Amino acid sequence: MAAADIKGPDTASMRKAYERWAPVYDVVYDKLTAPARQRAVAAALACGTRILEVGVGTGLSLDAYPKSAQVTGVDLSEHMLRRAQQKVDRLGLRQVEALAVMDACRLGFPDGTFDAVVSQFVITLVPDPEAALDEFARVLRPGGEIVLANHFGAAGGALASLEEAVAPLASKVGWSSAFKAERIARWARSRGVAEVVSLESVFPGGFFKVMQLRKFA
Ligand SMILES: C[S@@+](CC[C@H](N)C(=O)[O-])C[C@H]1O[C@@H](n2cnc3c(N)ncnc32)[C@H](O)[C@@H]1O
Repeated sequence: MAAADIKGPDTASMRKAYERWAPVYDVVYDKLTAPARQRAVAAALACGTRILEVGVGTGLSLDAYPKSAQVTGVDLSEHMLRRAQQKVDRLGLRQVEALAVMDACRLGFPDGTFDAVVSQFVITLVPDPEAALDEFARVLRPGGEIVLANHFGAAGGALASLEEAVAPLASKVGWSSAFKAERIARWARSRGVAEVVSLESVFPGGFFKVMQLRKFA
């Protein structure tokens, strides 16, 4: 394991952390993550209308998909999903076909089901992100894309050291500070099933990034 490959919290701690986050999540994150969400949703829709959102949370992205899409959202946290369901009901989001409790590493869908798998602010929290990426690639059709929105840790220097130092603390509250984008690129190279096609810096000031990986046809 490389020094940067810091382990995320286990799923029980993650569920606990997001049970606490659920009531205040939208107040803290809605505006902050809106530009990254818009970018990620646009990238997914460019691939087609069958979309899987892994770690859909309170469903902040769901109303950005057009009614012609068929969106499935999954998440580890029942408490976050309950909020997503309330949004679906309140806003009449008929593009959302299903919401289900599910672990990113064990997706209950057949191979090649989706045109795009979107996962925003999630992959760096999963204890075994390579296993999650394997699942994303499996349920994706050939030529489809994995779209990840996230903060990724600095590649080196003082900022990287600081991010690595605070990583254990960050993971206790369901955040991640030190996970590097290179880990995902390494996954793609080692598996040979997909390639990174773009890594774009977005608001605020490039702190968040949107990464697209295309599954080989
Ligand atoms: C920072 S929130 C992001 C929520 C949403 N994607 C957004 O952008 O607003 C992280 C979400 O990932 C979920 N999560 C964490 N680990 C997961 C896993 N292994 N499988 C599925 N969901 C997971 C958490 O429950 C939480 O809802």
